[in-house]
Amino acid sequence: MSKLFSLATRMQGVESSPTLRLNALAQEMIREGKDVINLTAGETDFETPANIRAAAVKAMEAGKTRYTAPHGTPELRKAVAAWFERDFGLKYSFQQVTTTCGVKQGIFHLMLAIVGAGDEVIIPAPYWVSYPEMVRLAGGTPIILPSQSGFGLQREALKKAITKRTRLLLLNFPNNPSGASYSKDDLEFVAELLKGTDILVASDEIYSSLCYDGTAFHSFASLSEDAYQRTITFNGLSKSHAMTGWRVGFAAGEIKIIEAMGILQAQSATNITSFVQDAAIEALKQTKAEFEPRRLDMQSRRDLAVSILRGAEKLKLDTPTGAFYCFPDVSAYFNQRLPGSEAMSEYLLLEAGVATVPGKPFGDDRCIRISFAKDKQSLEKGLGRFVAALQKL
Ligand SMILES: Cc1ncc(COP(=O)(O)O)c(C=O)c1O
Repeated sequence: MSKLFSLATRMQGVESSPTLRLNALAQEMIREGKDVINLTAGETDFETPANIRAAAVKAMEAGKTRYTAPHGTPELRKAVAAWFERDFGLKYSFQQVTTTCGVKQGIFHLMLAIVGAGDEVIIPAPYWVSYPEMVRLAGGTPIILPSQSGFGLQREALKKAITKRTRLLLLNFPNNPSGASYSKDDLEFVAELLKGTDILVASDEIYSSLCYDGTAFHSFASLSEDAYQRTITFNGLSKSHAMTGWRVGFAAGEIKIIEAMGILQAQSATNITSFVQDAAIEALKQTKAEFEPRRLDMQSRRDLAVSILRGAEKLKLDTPTGAFYCFPDVSAYFNQRLPGSEAMSEYLLLEAGVATVPGKPFGDDRCIRISFAKDKQSLEKGLGRFVAALQKL
């Protein structure tokens, strides 16, 4: 066989994002005129605020259309450092901050910077689909902590998973796909457990602005001096500012690691889009009070989604306390024809016209991910169909 189109071994077993694939399939059905309610989206339906859009236009008109420093402009890095302090109580110098094309690129760069062959990265399930693939692309080995009921931290499994080869622990809360958050007690347990080890923590806090029912958000690095030292904190504008397409992510932590991530940025994308950097500075002026109506709106959509889903008698659902996903366990409805989440998601799309994402690529095949970042009418219609389709089984 010709080697003309053969791929590098690092591509073996690495998959394209299944959340994007399902979304694309649903879009195709919609284009064909089929009646599909799409509950797969990983983004809100809000507009990017007008002042942020205006800041980008102004920057463009002012000629800010050229390369910038790989980490981003000093003005942006300073604004990010000030924001980490204002909203999270985290003190970073601007040299400890870098900007990336979304948190996705930031985490990928961290993997390339610190993970190599033989290194293990601990990932509690359910996890964001990209984490294991990024670890593999970097040449490391993902060590998955199996999902447990309530989606709390798997304390015993975590203790057992730590070996001499453990390089990194990946935390994500509020969590995609479960919408669960770790308690402060869980986070303190982790901080205590890692003391005296050489294990770094990547804390993906992209959903920090979307916490419900009065649950407070505690940034992992804010827990103790030791936690601060070993953590690279990730956050960005995608979810909190409705800016998914703008591609703005932030990473902050130990300068040596941030510098390495800057080298990777310099050798790949060069920098995040120049005029977007001014818009990001404008975005960071948004206060929690200004975001509050959007948070409350999402919380009421969460309430609606949960109340409809509870109509399916055999479905198990922990009420999400953050992000914009429900992750119900539908395994009681599995049968020979529908033995797992992928077949179930496909059934729901083709038979009931409701697009969801199977739990399998998130590390929990019992569950289906439903995004409630959708208008209430669509939620009522889509989740009504979802429940009816399950009850038919
Ligand atoms: C847990 C998690 N981390 C990171 C990201 C990526 O965010 P960004 O748009 O900043 O790359 C997502 C997006 O869905 C996510 O769910």
